Amino acid sequence: MDKHKEQGPGGADDHRFAEGESEKTLTTRQGHPVRTNQNLRTIGNRGPATLENYDYIEKISHFDRERVPERVVHARGTGAHGYFETYGKAGDEPVEKYTRAKVFSGAGKKTPVLVRFSTVTHSAGSPETLRDPRGFAVKFYTEDGNWDLVGNNLKVFFIRDAMKFPDLIHSFKPDPVTNIQDSERIFDFLSQTPESMHMVTFLFSPWGIPANYRQMQGSGVNTYRWVNEEGKAVLVKYHWEPLKQGIKNLTQEEANQIQAENFNHATQDLYEAIESGDYPEWELCVQIMDDHEHPELDFDPLDDTKLWPEDQFPFLKVGKMVLNKNPDNYFNEIEQAAFGTGVLVDGLDFSDDKMLQGRTFSYSDTQRYRVGANYQQLPSNAPKKHAATNYEGGSMSYFVDRPEGANPHVNYEPSSLNGLEESPAKKAPHQPYAEGKLKKEPIDRENNFKQAGERYRMLKDWERDDLINNLVVSLKPCQTHIQKKMVSLLTQCDEDYGNRVAEGLGMHAAAGGMKEEFAGDMTPSKGKLPKRGGS
Ligand code: HEM
Repeated sequence: MDKHKEQGPGGADDHRFAEGESEKTLTTRQGHPVRTNQNLRTIGNRGPATLENYDYIEKISHFDRERVPERVVHARGTGAHGYFETYGKAGDEPVEKYTRAKVFSGAGKKTPVLVRFSTVTHSAGSPETLRDPRGFAVKFYTEDGNWDLVGNNLKVFFIRDAMKFPDLIHSFKPDPVTNIQDSERIFDFLSQTPESMHMVTFLFSPWGIPANYRQMQGSGVNTYRWVNEEGKAVLVKYHWEPLKQGIKNLTQEEANQIQAENFNHATQDLYEAIESGDYPEWELCVQIMDDHEHPELDFDPLDDTKLWPEDQFPFLKVGKMVLNKNPDNYFNEIEQAAFGTGVLVDGLDFSDDKMLQGRTFSYSDTQRYRVGANYQQLPSNAPKKHAATNYEGGSMSYFVDRPEGANPHVNYEPSSLNGLEESPAKKAPHQPYAEGKLKKEPIDRENNFKQAGERYRMLKDWERDDLINNLVVSLKPCQTHIQKKMVSLLTQCDEDYGNRVAEGLGMHAAAGGMKEEFAGDMTPSKGKLPKRGGS
């Protein structure tokens, strides 16, 4: 919005400016021209300063408030604008067979997007070379309102139950005493979280350090539903595949070399590519399954620690995304951007995945704290189509979402006085049936190791070597009982996997005997870092 136009007409009769001043003249936020921006007002020119320095106090106290709390996870990031172009199909089928979401209908239709890429664990200024999952969050400004696809680069996750998320993150964040990330704390948690082995196998291989944000995949990770015009649903997983720029990952050594010279390399890479017109592109693919529990599979389709085998559930291409504009202001457009798994449009729905439901509460909850009660009105977060609500007030409220023509006195519904009204357009309802005892229990088909072992065997030799080396280096400072537990879990994924890590740690890993031998041996021994309390 052009504030200057609102304040006056401009041109010759414009009385906003004193002689020599113009629109470019520095002002305070009160609109007062700033005639001295170099010196405080002081008694004499050496001080002391006086308290009525309004322009200084406004300037410094705004500066003092320049930061909002950083994201509790994914604090370090960058982003860009672009568009999504639908193919109007899912593979060879018309996409309408599966979903009525308008963003996918009509081949060639373009929908504006905002994307934020990120690392997960460390703070907003941390190096972009660290081993960490990368966030890949996309906001689609569709004709039906906003849709957020909040994903990561890796296609699986450490845990499958939202209850564990704060513990997972605490173990990866810096130690609360030393304020240093500590692999003993990480592996203390992971070694007691067998479902994390698939993710660990990705993360400690070169897939845990993408070369930059352009050359990595993205995935929705969790399972969602698509709903068609008849109200019929299918289960769906989303995948972003880089097009012309391809996929590139780094060994630890390569990452160390980059970090020694540049800790912003991924932000710089994206910014420079877009500025030079070399726009990165990704193809969006989906995997589709009938909407039921699939007892024939050896995993639960809602379990986000699992991949859906591609030979049974092929990748169906549905469209492509191009990023072609850098933000004009990083803080306004990217730092204050708010993505969440609850932001869905008609035709896209949740699945019963309890992890996804746990996420859905968390995003908007943290954003009300991080950005404020009216975060959805900021330009990055507001839908491009109109929003018409009866919400009122809250911190930083400066307009209401009520269109001209609606009665400004009516901020409730129903009303007979020309207020906002429910949409008359009804759709075939999607009403999944749910029945069962309320429980606090793990899922039935945990199958924690099979896909991790398959992944280990699928890695290229150099990737497997890097994985073993990275695990050994990270496990070395851990207490022996943690090392043994990790080796036991890795052996259950693949014997060679466990043996090689055990060898690297100087253990005698009798192939095949590892599971039993280590399962019972949990005696803690002394760690390398001096620690208070505990063991
Ligand atoms: C950011 C919670 C799992 C991807 C966040 C934020 C929270 C959160 C609180 C900060 C949001 C903000 O400040 O705006 C959770 C919880 C999870 C979970 C409770 C599990 C129960 C996941 C998973 C993925 C993921 C599995 C990958 C699919 C992201 C991304 C962001 C993020 C990409 C950054 C979004 C941005 O760029 O603003 N998450 N998360 N999260 N999460 Fe999750």
